[in-house]
Amino acid sequence: MKGSKHPKNDLTINPSGNRSIHDVIDEVDSARRRFVQGSVGAGALAAAGGFTLSGLVATVQAAPIPPGVGFPGIGFESIPPDTAPLLDRVVVPAGYTAQLFVAWGDPIMPGGAPFASDASQTAADQLKQFGMHNDGMHFFPFAGRGGLPASDRGVLCVNNEYTHEEILFPDGQVGSGYTIAKTRKSQAAHGVSALEARRINGNWTVVKASPFGRRITSNTPMRMSGPAAGHALLRTNEYVITDAATTPTGNTTDGTVCFGTVNNCAHGITPWGTYLTCEENFNGNFGGNGALPPVGTEVGKLNSRYGISAGGFGYRWHTTDPRWDVVANPNEPHLFGWVVEFDPTSPGGRPVKRTALGRMKHESAQYVVDSANRVAFYMGDDERNEYIYKFVCAGTFNPSNRAANRNLLDSGTLYVARFDSNLTGVWLPLVPGTIGLNGQALRDNPNFSGADDAEVLAKILIKTRMAADAVGATMMDRPEWTGARPRIYGYNEVEIYCTLTNNNRRGSAAVPTSNNPDGSTAAGSARPAVDTANPREDNVYGHIIRWRETGQTVTATTFSWDLFVQNGDVATVKAARPTNDYKGNIVDVPDGSADFGAPDGLWFDYYGRLWVQTDQVGDGSGDWLNIGSNCMVCADPNTKEVRRFLTSPNKCEVTGVTTTPDGKTMWIGIQHPGEDSTAADPQQFSTWPAGQWAVESDGVTALPSGRPRSSMVVITKDDGGVIGS
Ligand code: FEO
Ligand code: CA
Ligand code: CA
Repeated sequence: MKGSKHPKNDLTINPSGNRSIHDVIDEVDSARRRFVQGSVGAGALAAAGGFTLSGLVATVQAAPIPPGVGFPGIGFESIPPDTAPLLDRVVVPAGYTAQLFVAWGDPIMPGGAPFASDASQTAADQLKQFGMHNDGMHFFPFAGRGGLPASDRGVLCVNNEYTHEEILFPDGQVGSGYTIAKTRKSQAAHGVSALEARRINGNWTVVKASPFGRRITSNTPMRMSGPAAGHALLRTNEYVITDAATTPTGNTTDGTVCFGTVNNCAHGITPWGTYLTCEENFNGNFGGNGALPPVGTEVGKLNSRYGISAGGFGYRWHTTDPRWDVVANPNEPHLFGWVVEFDPTSPGGRPVKRTALGRMKHESAQYVVDSANRVAFYMGDDERNEYIYKFVCAGTFNPSNRAANRNLLDSGTLYVARFDSNLTGVWLPLVPGTIGLNGQALRDNPNFSGADDAEVLAKILIKTRMAADAVGATMMDRPEWTGARPRIYGYNEVEIYCTLTNNNRRGSAAVPTSNNPDGSTAAGSARPAVDTANPREDNVYGHIIRWRETGQTVTATTFSWDLFVQNGDVATVKAARPTNDYKGNIVDVPDGSADFGAPDGLWFDYYGRLWVQTDQVGDGSGDWLNIGSNCMVCADPNTKEVRRFLTSPNKCEVTGVTTTPDGKTMWIGIQHPGEDSTAADPQQFSTWPAGQWAVESDGVTALPSGRPRSSMVVITKDDGGVIGS
């Protein structure tokens, strides 16, 4: 995300609310309600969905690649960049077909109304429709023939990161006034959309009557779990949330309950078949009606380190919904910044915020299961000069008993990465006994002091960034998505890639700033010197780093690393700086044919191809004259060769990618096409997707014009082959 509500991640936002208008369960029709409330068991779901739970769980990802098959390589030629004036279209290579699959406002569950192109629909409508500004996504296949994963039917879980209030409402954010009804619609457009996707007669369609259709919003009831649950910093004002108001009860919560999720950027899945949605710029959804707590107080320090401010990112939720007012309800931000787990096979299940994975501006959470069935999740904290983390579960993954894995995310060790100049690195454990840069154990650092080590750990997790400062983690150039190279074709390394999207503050001060070991680092505004892992000043094009765990195990505390690629533009005329010629070292033939920058989305497909998506201004201006629109490229992890696969509409970002298990259908996300337009002229910068297509991929649903819409695009190969082959 990049727009006004998802700035350059050096500012703050604030999150929202409580129990919302309606929980999803209350929104469904009575038959559905009986289904959801009466039985979230596997049997009922199997009956309703026509598949078996065990089949689904066993097939989170694709079927194994047959023995003897090697990496198939990349079989398409790079398409040209889409330079200004942009086409305002999605373009894919010859031999491929792209279609619109689902767009913001399309119905995804029983009772959902078709999108109204004047944005006149209400929060209640939005609660049954695909949310706004989609981001990370995953296709969970149903079980098909012989229990193998189906490639024609499954549940797609898709994050809805943020909203563009100017096009969310007919009169824009303020227009004729700002109201609780607007807050509720905005909250309803955030979160996650789960929908059933099915291929019928060759056409991919959203099954609108599916019991798996679900919206998780900024008001969905959730629970906190793990070491920080129940801590005093998570106890907030208790509210009753209705369509019309958020009303304080006068009570304080016990720190184990919360409502909703915001700024759901990238995502993860678990090997036991659940979806992880990651809360990124939660700070921007909050605001303050009055003076915030002094900076020297515990909450003041947290606000400073996480970017909570009175103005937030310009949302006005706090003016109508006191839950989001950090003056009235100062602990509410501490309920955000987590990884949230839910089970797509259990549409009535309550999402759980897993505090053991730490609190930051979470980007994605990529898992690896090693040969000993130990599990780790690799995570970025997306803001300039923030860190890369991993969480290692204390328990082992049980592939034959799904229930045994249910709370694996509640205990384990959170580590933060230090990248050393000799191309090795260390995972620094964020636990009470770790000695910080100041020679003090974290338990003796006043920021984390507690009655016992259990409380110290709770504080370390709530103040993850401050703990990482204290132990001397390496400031990175905005860690975005992480991806794990598949351990197939006999390749057994635990090898992780992370996009470092950009950092124009790297190396920009004569006197560089670094971590403050007391945990007061102002990372977003810091000006660190270049280092081996972040070697270019004014790193506007970004790079991709990768590391390999020592001993092929996720429990390693050391690793080796290198830079997979430094992005740039070989044809740039920008004046070189001592450590940055802006040209990059992208391997492409001919040289420059696949230059790209601001890497963000990153995912290995089931055959081992690396797909990378970009998030820059997206209009072909300035540093992007030659690179043009945002794009998706495919890279070979062996040779590093890159080819451009997809170019995108005007002023959007390409984010989110997943395929069916057979690799023959791919979905990608287009977020915020035509961003920055106003209510007076929503189509000022883009008419996409209606400007490209008349109907969606089901062949039926018409695409009305009127305003640009974030959407998912479905891509198939005309010869029926694997995408990328
Ligand atoms: Fe929402 Fe870090 O991109
Ligand atoms: Ca090149
Ligand atoms: Ca992102």
